[in-house]
Amino acid sequence: MEEKISLDDMAEMATVDLSDMLGVLEKFPSQVRDALGTGTSGPDLPPAAAPVNIAVLGMGGSGISGDVLAALSAEKGLTVPVATVKGYSLPPFVGADSLVFAVSYSGNTEETLDCLDQALERGARVIAVSSGGKLASTARDRGLPLFEIPGGLQPRASLGYLFVPLLCALERMGMIEGAIAELESSVEMLEHRRAEYGPEAELESNPAKRLARDLVGFMPVVYGAEGYLAVAASRWKAQFNEMAKVPSFCNYFPELNHNETVGWQNLEDVCRRCHIVVLGEPALHPRTEKRVKITLDLLGGSVGHVTRVCARGSNVVERFLDLAYFGDFASVYLALALGQDPTPVTRIEDLKKRLAE
Ligand code: F6R
Repeated sequence: MEEKISLDDMAEMATVDLSDMLGVLEKFPSQVRDALGTGTSGPDLPPAAAPVNIAVLGMGGSGISGDVLAALSAEKGLTVPVATVKGYSLPPFVGADSLVFAVSYSGNTEETLDCLDQALERGARVIAVSSGGKLASTARDRGLPLFEIPGGLQPRASLGYLFVPLLCALERMGMIEGAIAELESSVEMLEHRRAEYGPEAELESNPAKRLARDLVGFMPVVYGAEGYLAVAASRWKAQFNEMAKVPSFCNYFPELNHNETVGWQNLEDVCRRCHIVVLGEPALHPRTEKRVKITLDLLGGSVGHVTRVCARGSNVVERFLDLAYFGDFASVYLALALGQDPTPVTRIEDLKKRLAE
């Protein structure tokens, strides 16, 4: 299958990218810088008495901020467990000694609002992150700390606004160290990556465009590894779904060696239409590195393609953001190569409308 448009023709890309998702991605480094401003100067935070656990309430593009928080704050020394709640039920361990982040870009996501009510009833300390809607109005009415972020974007294009304030809040509350400095250094790194992954960089020297070209006609299956690489893999999968509107699945090492590795033995025609993308990093656990090599050897001829992508950056926050940025561009280029406008998510909107009927 051929690309429907040339990824080096800016005018042609603009005829498909009707709401300028590429332009939004190009502003991502300044989004992280703005979000740092919000996160470090934002509202007064709850008393520093250490909570016994943390829950992050959020769905989809907002909910991933909880996964990012859990993975990165563990690297930054957080000693209490973090649960990401993606549904209607707040786990029973969340109570008055818990810290709860309620994250919804629109502020109107019903699952998040339901869990917020439960958290408030149980007397948890709640911090809200939103651009408006019911979440922002509840936070104002109840005097909850609110990180108010700019509206007008797609939630999935607002990753910086959604997760940076959470890391800043934990550092300001004395629960982690060093995240703010790593976020600051990430801004410059992202500016360099924009030059490499962005639309001005031509396909032959642009790894995000090359990967998108190689994904045309294939289903992306994205593999990470325990920790932040698993979160990056799930971010890539969701971006391929929402930007390019293709089925995509993710998993992570070493867990996938205990089940999924066996599953590539039948449905040969389906397996051949899959492109496995393995996300790694220079300091991958040596046993995991060995597992990746053996697994790819075992899968050998059964899958259509394999690509390995290695995170770059001088610290874990930079490496996560490097991968997230690469995946964002690759998913938008794949959308454009398929002739698909990356911005609308009509099915999510229709579904929310029908649920409201
Ligand atoms: C759309 C997107 C979705 C939303 C989700 C929850 O770009 O990424 O996954 O994030 O439907 O909505 P919000 O983020 O408004 O709470």
